[in-house]
Amino acid sequence: MIQFKRVGKTYPNGVEALKQVDLEIEQGEFVAIIGLSGAGKSTLIRLVNKMHPITEGELIVNDVAVDDTLKGDKLRKFRREIGMIFQSFNLIMRTSVIKNVLAAKVADMSFMRSFLGLYKDADKIAALSALEKLGILDKAYTRADQLSGGQQQRVALARTLTQDPKIILADEPVASLDPVTANQVMSDFKTVNKDFNITVIANMHHVDMALNYADRVIGIRQGEIVFDGPSSKITNAILKDVYGREITDDDILAEAPKEIV
Ligand SMILES: Nc1ncnc2c1ncn2[C@@H]1O[C@H](COP(=O)(O)OP(=O)(O)OP(=O)(O)O)[C@@H](O)[C@H]1O
Ligand SMILES: [Mg+2]
Repeated sequence: MIQFKRVGKTYPNGVEALKQVDLEIEQGEFVAIIGLSGAGKSTLIRLVNKMHPITEGELIVNDVAVDDTLKGDKLRKFRREIGMIFQSFNLIMRTSVIKNVLAAKVADMSFMRSFLGLYKDADKIAALSALEKLGILDKAYTRADQLSGGQQQRVALARTLTQDPKIILADEPVASLDPVTANQVMSDFKTVNKDFNITVIANMHHVDMALNYADRVIGIRQGEIVFDGPSSKITNAILKDVYGREITDDDILAEAPKEIV
């Protein structure tokens, strides 16, 4: 379970990105976060794995307090249970799919072993099995840059699965994909969510896709949660409240998401 209690986030430059966020997410939920550019979507998910520290309130993830005491080995162990997927896939393009998936294990290996590519058999089996689960086992020895965008995102998802995560955080995972491929990738997320009971929290610019795939939608406006409920309860009036104006799907699709790391 993920619990936000009156959580606030102010960046060192003084930008107050999140205010008084109260939120509980149960294990196995599929949550989409929607809102305008700059609303605080990325900030919200980056707090969960302490990519950015909270500056106010209390955050508890799987019974671990995500605070100043969470550091070093404890933080590394904590992060192993949380996968992260980005819009840009973050693959090493000039190397094979299998090596990209195995890259998730490099953090646990000595430099020499990873340099020489001496992966453990158990890791190789885990990597192949993750590729099989996502239906791209036949691409294991293909170079990442020879895959389509959708296949590349599947590889990123497979890499995350080898971590055996309890939670997957996805920051605009389909933003750079065409609608058909984007739907395929969202189905992959849904499969992973339902078959392995992994909590998925995904930032989405495409409202229609958020509604189609997520069980629960959270709408953020200027750092505050203005809607939190089942996808089926979303109405045009709610969307107007989240986005602060009348919107159409084209409107949302036209907005170019930017990644701030
Ligand atoms: N690392 C950072 N340092 C300072 N300010 C930041 C940082 N990251 C985000 N912000 C600011 O915090 C606010 C929320 O940003 P955030 O990236 O969470 O929004 P977002 O909803 O993900 O937007 P987008 O849809 O464009 O990705 C914005 O005003 C942004 O400029
Ligand atoms: Mg963002």
